[in-house]
Amino acid sequence: MCPVIDIPYDEVQGNVLHGYGLEHAVYLLLHATTRVSAQECLRYAHSHVETAVPWESEDKPSCTLNVGLTYTGLERLGLPAIDLAEWPDVFRRPTRERAADLGDVGPSSPEHWERGLGTGQVHLMLFLHTRSEPVLRTKARELRDELDRLGGLEVVACHEAHALIMMREHFGYADGFAQPDIEGVTPRGRRSRAVRGGGVPLADGGWRPLKLGEFLLGYPDEDGNVDRCSLRVNGTFMVYRKLEQDVVAFREALRRAAEVSGLHEEVIAAKVVGRWRDGMPLELLPHRTPDSSLREEVVDQPPNDFRYLPHDRQGYVCPRGAHVRRANPRDALDFDGAVAESGRLSARHRIIRRSMPYGTELRDDAVDDEKRGLLFVCFNADIARQFETVQADWCNDGDSFGLGAEQDYLLATRDPSAPMTIPSKVSPGFLPAVPGLVRTRGSEYLFLPGITALRNLSVAKPG
Ligand code: HEM
Repeated sequence: MCPVIDIPYDEVQGNVLHGYGLEHAVYLLLHATTRVSAQECLRYAHSHVETAVPWESEDKPSCTLNVGLTYTGLERLGLPAIDLAEWPDVFRRPTRERAADLGDVGPSSPEHWERGLGTGQVHLMLFLHTRSEPVLRTKARELRDELDRLGGLEVVACHEAHALIMMREHFGYADGFAQPDIEGVTPRGRRSRAVRGGGVPLADGGWRPLKLGEFLLGYPDEDGNVDRCSLRVNGTFMVYRKLEQDVVAFREALRRAAEVSGLHEEVIAAKVVGRWRDGMPLELLPHRTPDSSLREEVVDQPPNDFRYLPHDRQGYVCPRGAHVRRANPRDALDFDGAVAESGRLSARHRIIRRSMPYGTELRDDAVDDEKRGLLFVCFNADIARQFETVQADWCNDGDSFGLGAEQDYLLATRDPSAPMTIPSKVSPGFLPAVPGLVRTRGSEYLFLPGITALRNLSVAKPG
């Protein structure tokens, strides 16, 4: 039995432990010209911030506001040097300096990023989620008017995002539903918190939830460690990445691969991600009579209760290099049986995703020059151990899975990049990589303070 954890929801920002399920968002990335303007902005945020206190579906607000700070934002607030030195190294460095390590090379390299992003220029981020586009327009205008009134706050970037029909991302897959199961957190809309498949796979076939401290600071993590810095209690780190998607190139690559291999395009699409486009995992539905209508199918809540071992060690069902098997290997990292509790390894590298697409959906067979992609957002307690390991060691490299230099087919940036291996008992297939299907256009690491810390930061005297 897990100890019952009483989470102080009124101390935690919303959208972290539970997704809002609101379909429109705008992110304002701000530069504060003075300490006072940064504090004014935090004071405004503190009086309007949405907390994690659960709401009934009928009380769902039409608009929410949340706030994050970068490391240079903490510096701008004048925190004492001794306190600043306590923040993690990867958070303190401009994300442009992390680019090479994270695979942001070639078409994803910082020279192609939006001006100002990842340079240290951004101090604060205010973001709104709304129910509808008209509400987004009105609230975003009001917010910008308020920032003008406060003064000393320059908009470095403003990004809008909106959910696509059937919760798809631009390549056509249902996205965003496989999330960590966390102790003490009951998923919205459910009475009991047991969600099989989201937590840590146990040797007896069961699952247990992940420790809260993997996501929220100030609580024990999977190793029993607790971050005791008072400013960080009830806070979390947010990774924000603008990822442009080349939908035309992706569709063309699937078409070509289907012609060459004789496999149906939808089978190739499923092997690339590890789930069919409607979200059904290959591990639970290895075979299906695919046709193009699959792209329109909806599964209300795609299942998540599956593992990779012992039945699929070779990846005949779900390739070892498929996106979801890399991003959350579940029980698959047992090093050929050498590690008994293999689920514990993945457990240290989980992230909560709250991404949303930007740009309009591209109709089938259409070609245009519009920019579209994913505003990738994830929350974790330790950016280096969680997000960066998934991105750099698992998605951008194949070593952990016995795949050498093979990269995630969706996220590959190296040119040339090794083809994706699609294992088969008859003869393996090799899918030529198309580096640059997803291109980074900017990245920021932020800290989302708890509510008391937010208030304290907004009134703190310089150190
Ligand atoms: C444009 C870029 C991306 C696309 C199109 C994409 C697409 C998908 C899709 C379709 C799924 C399966 C649906 C779901 O589980 O919700 C998924 C799952 C996931 N993705 Fe991505 N993704 C992208 C970028 C990333 C990045 C950059 C990371 C982290 C470095 C990441 C981490 C994950 C994780 C952790 C899962 C859940 C795996 C599981 O728990 O089984 N994704 N992604």
